[in-house]
Amino acid sequence: MTGGPQLTVALGDAATSPVRCDRLAAVVGTIERTYIATPRLSLRPFRRRDIDMLHTSASESMSELSRWLPWASGAYTRSMAQTYIRDSMSAWNEGRAFDFAMRTVEDRPRHVGNVSVWFTSAQNKTGEAGYWTRTPDTGKGYMTEAVASILDFAFRDLAMHRVAVRVAVGNAASVKIAEKLGFTYEGTLRQVIQVGSEWLDHTSWSLLASEHAQHRHRYEQEGWVMPR
Ligand SMILES: CC(C)(COP(=O)(O)OP(=O)(O)OC[C@H]1O[C@@H](n2cnc3c(N)ncnc32)[C@H](O)[C@@H]1OP(=O)(O)O)[C@@H](O)C(=O)NCCC(=O)NCCS
Repeated sequence: MTGGPQLTVALGDAATSPVRCDRLAAVVGTIERTYIATPRLSLRPFRRRDIDMLHTSASESMSELSRWLPWASGAYTRSMAQTYIRDSMSAWNEGRAFDFAMRTVEDRPRHVGNVSVWFTSAQNKTGEAGYWTRTPDTGKGYMTEAVASILDFAFRDLAMHRVAVRVAVGNAASVKIAEKLGFTYEGTLRQVIQVGSEWLDHTSWSLLASEHAQHRHRYEQEGWVMPR
């Protein structure tokens, strides 16, 4: 696949549905598991066979991830990778959350991070994105590219109206991603998340569907998304 995300929202189509989720089906339909091509990456829903590569990648990145992400404390075990992938597959099938494994086109077996988008309110068509990059692969622009491409998926395939990102105060690299993609800073939530023994303030950022439509051409010119 060389174009942007090519997902099918099969509203009520039980024949092609991997699993129906009655609670959300009326709003989002069933989203086919497929992958997204970006200029340098392939973003793919997780499969059982990804356990070892996720385990290796996350283990290698724990000291950086543990600064900002609540789940990243202590060692990242193989069983954690297994649980994550199982939950990720159920969440996708239920239309709750959409996690993608990031691989480079150059070195396909290498897992370079995770990028996800999920509904915070299906009724209000609002969602949130989250992400991490494998530590040795940071600073190469991979996450900007992955999030830019996930936004196509969120606004077009999931028909979201608004996507938020929440970034801990002090996480300058993540703020930079939100800024580069044209998100608007909305404010700071005080001590909203516990990471280790610390309570972190989070800045809240959002991008609306109408704004995404305005930025999309710039993303393409920057080389972050495939031409439509
Ligand atoms: C935040 C994170 C995802 C960035 O991933 P990445 O693949 O390096 O991101 P990119 O290369 O696309 O963009 C990062 C940008 O931040 C900039 N940056 C990196 N460190 C920075 C710092 N300390 N201060 C200011 N800018 C910084 C980079 O220069 C780059 O901007 P540029 O392209 O204009 O030069 C990665 O560092 C990470 O996984 N961190 C730990 C987990 C995490 O914080 N997840 C996000 C939670 S909201």
